[in-house]
Amino acid sequence: MTADLILGIETSCDETAAAVVRGGSDVLSNVVHSQIDVHREWGGVVPELASRHHAEQIDLIIELALRRAGIEIGDIDAVGATYGPGLIGALLVGVSAAKAIALARGVPFVGIDHIEAHIHSVTLTHGEIPYPALSLVVSGGHTSLFRQEKRFEYELIARTRDDAAGEAYDKVAKLLNIGYPGGPVMDHMAKLGDPNAVPFSPVKMSDGSLDFSFSGLKTAVLHLTRKRPELLERKLPLEEDRPLLDLVASFQAAVISEIVRRIESSIDEGGVHAVGISGGVSNNSGLRAAMEALAERRGVPVFFPDLVYTSDNAGMIAALAWHRLRLDAPSPLDLNPVPNLRLAEAPGARRHPRSG
Ligand code: KG4
Ligand code: ZN
Repeated sequence: MTADLILGIETSCDETAAAVVRGGSDVLSNVVHSQIDVHREWGGVVPELASRHHAEQIDLIIELALRRAGIEIGDIDAVGATYGPGLIGALLVGVSAAKAIALARGVPFVGIDHIEAHIHSVTLTHGEIPYPALSLVVSGGHTSLFRQEKRFEYELIARTRDDAAGEAYDKVAKLLNIGYPGGPVMDHMAKLGDPNAVPFSPVKMSDGSLDFSFSGLKTAVLHLTRKRPELLERKLPLEEDRPLLDLVASFQAAVISEIVRRIESSIDEGGVHAVGISGGVSNNSGLRAAMEALAERRGVPVFFPDLVYTSDNAGMIAALAWHRLRLDAPSPLDLNPVPNLRLAEAPGARRHPRSG
């Protein structure tokens, strides 16, 4: 049997998503139900609420994905679901649904690594990119930079030691009473402010590694608001609050500079033919512009996913599942979710030391 039509399921965090992809790249449907409204009033994702909402929504979302693809469940050749990393209760909902379908229909099931799927969203959009490549996954839960000698091969170069970049946006937005999630609105505000108004010190790891750290930026914003409590008062519309716009623009410039600096120095180590950037923060207009400028400076092309594949979605899961089923055996039906699954971080996996 050629596993051609794949149903993909994604429930690792706060999006309940299902998609049907034919032949690994032809996306027939891609349904995403975001729980942002559920979590907004808490200023972040509440794991218990997330699992409960996934459980309520999953059947309907799968049904919609099949209907929009114009197929029935019996047409599916295989089913793939995110089995990590993510919230255990949330992952369980998607993995259980996928296994149940696989068992009932007698089709293969494959557990998918969410981070590998984000990386794959770049090739889903552009087809094969030149290798060796650098692949950055930058989202609400992850900030990891990989080097890929080839497609489907990953070496971890750097990851965050504390907050992910998107998490830093969301925490700073909460602190400044801007709303949740912080990224999109702060990206818009940053265009209206002065990125040089507030100096943030560059983050350097004492061991010389390229690892990221974003919690210091968040703490710097906290200290600033203690000195200038007026920054917390929301008397003006966001777009007219000049000191706030300047702070947000400076914060965004600092986040972007941390990312660009690491990618640039990895390019300078040589042999990089392309850069792929994925995950929710890869939506960021400032990051896209800064990366385009870097691509120009260094003569290395940069690839972003289509906007629909940047944030969590099941299109990237189904697409990768098609490839995974060609590369590996299907997953056993007793595969459990792995909340702290770490791509290329298995025991013995090589961390890339920073030379020089
Ligand atoms: O990939 P994603 O949907 O979920 C995770 O796997 O984490 O990413 C969501 C994150 C949130 O933290 C959100 O604030 C951030 O991506 N985000 C942005 C932008 N759009 C979404 N951050 C900065 N600029 C944006 N335009
Ligand atoms: Zn994600």
